[in-house]
Amino acid sequence: MRMLVTGGAGFIGSNFVHYMLREHPEDIIINADSLTYAGNLENLRAVEQEPNYQFVRVDITDREALRPLFEQEIDVVVNFAAESHVDRSILEPDVFVRTNILGTQTLLDLAKEFKVRKFVQVSTDEVYGTLGDTGLFSETTPLAANSPYSASKAGADLLVRAYHETFGLPVNITRCSNNYGPYQFPEKLIPLMIQNALADKQLPVYGDGLNVRDWLYVEDHCKAIDLVIREGATGEVYNVGGNNERNNLQVVRTILQELGKPESLITYVTDRPGHDRRYAIDASKIRTQLGWQPKYNYESGIVETIRWYLSNQAWMEQVKSGGYRDYYEMQYGERLGS
Ligand code: NAD
Ligand code: DAU
Repeated sequence: MRMLVTGGAGFIGSNFVHYMLREHPEDIIINADSLTYAGNLENLRAVEQEPNYQFVRVDITDREALRPLFEQEIDVVVNFAAESHVDRSILEPDVFVRTNILGTQTLLDLAKEFKVRKFVQVSTDEVYGTLGDTGLFSETTPLAANSPYSASKAGADLLVRAYHETFGLPVNITRCSNNYGPYQFPEKLIPLMIQNALADKQLPVYGDGLNVRDWLYVEDHCKAIDLVIREGATGEVYNVGGNNERNNLQVVRTILQELGKPESLITYVTDRPGHDRRYAIDASKIRTQLGWQPKYNYESGIVETIRWYLSNQAWMEQVKSGGYRDYYEMQYGERLGS
């Protein structure tokens, strides 16, 4: 199978590339990523020489630059490429609409033109909006996005659905809860708190710290997407989540305990505008119809993740310094003439 993976240099995308090369060495992976601040080729250094792996620097809104990739007879497109951080979407919504909506539509057009066998849109539980103290998001929960980020992802989901209904494009949409694990950019809760705690800096907790997220170890998300690619019924949406609801204070306290740091580092700060209170996923459809089972529970996954960041401080320093761009120039600049 020839697979076009967009956004494969980001957090989940790079974990997915590692996962696929390990689990399906017979497949060919073409990673198309524009390398925004969140894209990092260091995440893929261990596989960059693999004969069945290729990296192409390309923006998913650039139709003509994407065309030669589709001319290589792509079987499956998996679209991870996105602006993914809610706080940034509040500061600068434009780029979220451009990449997440226009970029997805550009890929859909090319997938239609080149008759790909499957288009998998990697979406998010945030498209459903927010929950009260009880209840779960199912695949039939109405979309009710609250941030520019989630609204742009919901817009993309509707386009994916429309290309299926109108043009018969074979699609799937996955909607996963919060991921954690190796290679996550330190703007997100868990790596940010680990970094601050290690440096004895304040840990900025938004509002009262009682917002709830349903945490899933990134490899379990990759496993779910792999199953959907191979066995997902055409046109279907699959929710993915680990039944690991924790409020933000619980997450932060676990990190402090594991690192042996004092709770006095916790600092409450002004809340995120439009801050969704609670997300929780009903994943029974993917469990029963596709046999998906997460391997990690939160207790084992979070400890493994903290250990990964402890043993990969050089990676973190390089990410923070923006050195990955220098790495890209050094590795590819001359060869690609960019
Ligand atoms: P990320 O921000 O770490 O990575 C995004 C990647 O997309 C980067 O490599 C970036 O360079 C690339 N990219 C951005 N704009 C691009 C463009 N115009 N053209 C080509 N590449 C571009 O994001 P992530 O956390 O790995 O999330 C990946 C996907 O999964 C996103 O679609 C996100 O909405 C979805 N998702 C994330 C989570 C989560 O908890 N992180 C949960 C559910 C769904
Ligand atoms: O639910 C899936 C979504 O999870 C994905 O679609 C998004 O791409 C991903 O970024 C994530 O969104 P969240 O907004 O839930 O993740 P974030 O790590 O930004 O925040 C998690 C919670 O922690 C949220 O309630 C806000 C809070 N928070 C976050 C940061 C960065 C803080 O209290 N302090 C912080 O400094």
